[in-house]
Amino acid sequence: MRTFAIKAREGVLEINYSENSNQPPFRKFIITYNPELSIGENLESIKSALTGLPIDAGIIENSLNYDFSDTIIGINHQKIDIGLAITNMLNVPVVNMQTVNEIGLEKAVKDKSEYLKWHLDYYGEYSGKRNYGQEAMLTIGNGYFGLRGAFVESNADQDNYPGMYIAGFFNQLTTKINDHDVINEDLVNLPNSQFITFGVDQQEPFKIKPEDIQDIYRSLDLKTGVLTTTLHVQLSTGHVLEIRAQKVANMTNYHRFAIKYEVKPINFSGSLQIYTKIDGSVQNRNVERYNDFNQQHLDIVGMSAHDDQISMRGRTKTSKVEFVINSKLTSIDCDTKSIIDTATENQVISQTLNLDVDPNKTYTFEKNISVFTSEQPDDELDVKARKDLDASSFADTLKDSQKFYDHVWHTSDIQIEHDITSQRLTRVNIFHLMVSGSALATGDLDASTGARGLHGEAYRGHIFWDVTFDLPFYALHFPKIARQCLMYRYNRLNPARDYAKSEDKDGAMYPWQSGMYGDEQSQFVHLNPVSGKWDPDNSRLQRHVSISVAYDVITYVHISGDLKFMKDYGLEMLLSITKFWISMASYNKTADRYDIKEVMGPDEFHEEYPNSDERGLTNNAYTNIMVSWLFEKVNDLINNHEDTVKPIFAKADFSDADQAKMNDIAHKLRLDISEEGIIGQFEGYFKLSKLNFESYRKKYGDISRIDRLLKGEGKSPDAYQVAKQADTLMAYYELPASEIERVINQLGYQLPDNYFTKNLRYYLDRTTHGSTLSRIVYSVLDELDGNMDQSWQLFSTALFSDYYDIQGGTTAEGIHLGVMGATLQIETRNYGGVSTDGENISINPHLPKLWTKLSFKHLFQGVTYTFTIDHNNVEVKADADTNVSVKGKNYSLTKNKAQKINYR
Ligand code: BGC
Repeated sequence: MRTFAIKAREGVLEINYSENSNQPPFRKFIITYNPELSIGENLESIKSALTGLPIDAGIIENSLNYDFSDTIIGINHQKIDIGLAITNMLNVPVVNMQTVNEIGLEKAVKDKSEYLKWHLDYYGEYSGKRNYGQEAMLTIGNGYFGLRGAFVESNADQDNYPGMYIAGFFNQLTTKINDHDVINEDLVNLPNSQFITFGVDQQEPFKIKPEDIQDIYRSLDLKTGVLTTTLHVQLSTGHVLEIRAQKVANMTNYHRFAIKYEVKPINFSGSLQIYTKIDGSVQNRNVERYNDFNQQHLDIVGMSAHDDQISMRGRTKTSKVEFVINSKLTSIDCDTKSIIDTATENQVISQTLNLDVDPNKTYTFEKNISVFTSEQPDDELDVKARKDLDASSFADTLKDSQKFYDHVWHTSDIQIEHDITSQRLTRVNIFHLMVSGSALATGDLDASTGARGLHGEAYRGHIFWDVTFDLPFYALHFPKIARQCLMYRYNRLNPARDYAKSEDKDGAMYPWQSGMYGDEQSQFVHLNPVSGKWDPDNSRLQRHVSISVAYDVITYVHISGDLKFMKDYGLEMLLSITKFWISMASYNKTADRYDIKEVMGPDEFHEEYPNSDERGLTNNAYTNIMVSWLFEKVNDLINNHEDTVKPIFAKADFSDADQAKMNDIAHKLRLDISEEGIIGQFEGYFKLSKLNFESYRKKYGDISRIDRLLKGEGKSPDAYQVAKQADTLMAYYELPASEIERVINQLGYQLPDNYFTKNLRYYLDRTTHGSTLSRIVYSVLDELDGNMDQSWQLFSTALFSDYYDIQGGTTAEGIHLGVMGATLQIETRNYGGVSTDGENISINPHLPKLWTKLSFKHLFQGVTYTFTIDHNNVEVKADADTNVSVKGKNYSLTKNKAQKINYR
């Protein structure tokens, strides 16, 4: 094995590289550790020293002795988990010399690799947005609630934000700004019920503050769903303690979560207090720029204590949704001297435990919490919450979570060999798709997945078209979650109809941002952090969200084979959306073409024409292509399943005449295609000015939000050929290229042979990736175009976008669920090459160079497929007799018999 060993001594790192399992001959490097530089900058010197040398693992020779990590070193009075840092930098496991001596290098490396692939760990104390971001990444939950991974000892402040959200739990508030009533609907931050801390000898309860904290380690175990925080504390009074908090969400009884809290006094005996509370004084304060608005969403209407439980009851101010939170603190192993006190103050109810402790003994406590909500007044709510809590324990909740995640990883894992980083972050993404959506599978919740999960307050918890990026993963593994995301839309068909009507349109027009009721929640102004000014926000003109809903219905039904859903709900949505788009198309007699006006594509940098009094843009290519595609699909459905579809016509106010008109439009929508074959993003796009990207990069460095920079300079991004994310080419992310080409031809346009490459280069050159949804789309386009290196670059950045918070602070306000889901799709659909677009599965792998093997399962039309793909072979197994194609060649599969096919 090719290793390098690191020894920290007197301000230097001594590195010995060996080509043969840490045996001589060695190549030696001495790296001076510069305390003025950041850890990352110092470690960069290791990377540079080792450049060109093949490495399988690192070994730490003199790590400090901790039970939470064996790769922490002390250098220049700093402690760093050099193992974690090197794994992030070089993508190799780093082991500890003592372990190597005990169990051998091979086993140590294997164990560590396995550990790294299943854990998301952070060492040290961070502040501000950095810590907020880590809390978002460490959020646990079950699709009913999301509980940010804050320290249980923390209260909301600049550095900590222990938020909790419930799917669909929204409230609207009005704020007067410049004499205008601005109404905002927010996903409400619930009372902080995860709070638990300790105190010694009746002194001040412990608070998270750097002076008292010697060490802090957080580890999210993706295999079980448990978040463990270890704290080493030395209080100003000299008391030394070790604290371990474990948090876990119940994935089945989704109203519950549990905390196990272990306290070990190290150097004293005396009295110990365990303080817990439910704090109803919270507001929505996760997103600083929203602080100008009224964010006090809750009324606390009652607090009480029963036996060993404390309870808080309240309701949202305007949506009048009630909630009850109950909490119970128990001591697991202490003697009878422990006393529980309950107390209430203004909007806070607390429960305290008092006991005598001895040094070096661990005292274990449990805090179990249950949360219930009800949209109607419900007298039973308290009883439900109490009973539920009576039935819950940490052990039970842990067992449930373990069982749930066993199932998740058994059915839905994506296994990647030879790439620890991709493996770990892939699992992180799958985990957060579960945190954001799993309870939707019960069908009980009238909710969908928000763009930022249940992890923070950005975009006020709203639901966007981002569901499109997650829906395939859900449909292929947890079809009931996908179905419920669509039921959320079905349940809001009437508001979508009203919205269309309010714009003098027919059918159903879904809002760009959707919350509780399904009315438009996009704002009219948006704060520009560059200029500090509120700029007008026309993003609601992204009518393409309605195409996404239709696309999701079609995708879900195709993958799941759920024809009942199509009959009962899907068709009504499709016909209503179709009806809307028919009314959006205006006929131009001279040209014998239809135009779609007043829309925006996904590229939010373009809201209208420069110097125009009209809103929006005309003939956005993505919109027109997708509308034509949708019309064709709907037409096929009507013609092929007349008996099923025709009876739905009345519900959607759809007629034969509409069908005829739809077909005419499907063939005559206008596109603007240049002589070289570039498909213009919208009509008039080619007339816009080119931006000198180089000079802006020189001036500002990061130009991903060039819109804000331009506006800050008094210019409008509308005037330039510059894009936030894929727009015209977005269609190629969603549909097979052949299908789009057919649509374009059907519209009467011809494209030159190499048009795709040309368009890709053209738009990539003009895109700044201002949205996390940009790179994933271009990664797919590059893969389609055969540019694997660039595809991989874009994919890798997308994969770690929340882990490294690449937008510099947005992860603090919630993870980006769309990109998380999309990376999973790239892995299986594009790199694994497993397409579910046709009637049978077709496979055409493009494995990244680094990966030696990729394995995963798909549930497609009721059949479970297992795929194992390497650089030469595809092994596929199905639990029914079926057919697949590999590189265009057909193979029949026998039930439960694996077939290995060489595709080279
Ligand atoms: C993107 C949209 C996306 C929204 C929510 C915006 O920055 O431009 O495409 O739907 O974020 O994630």
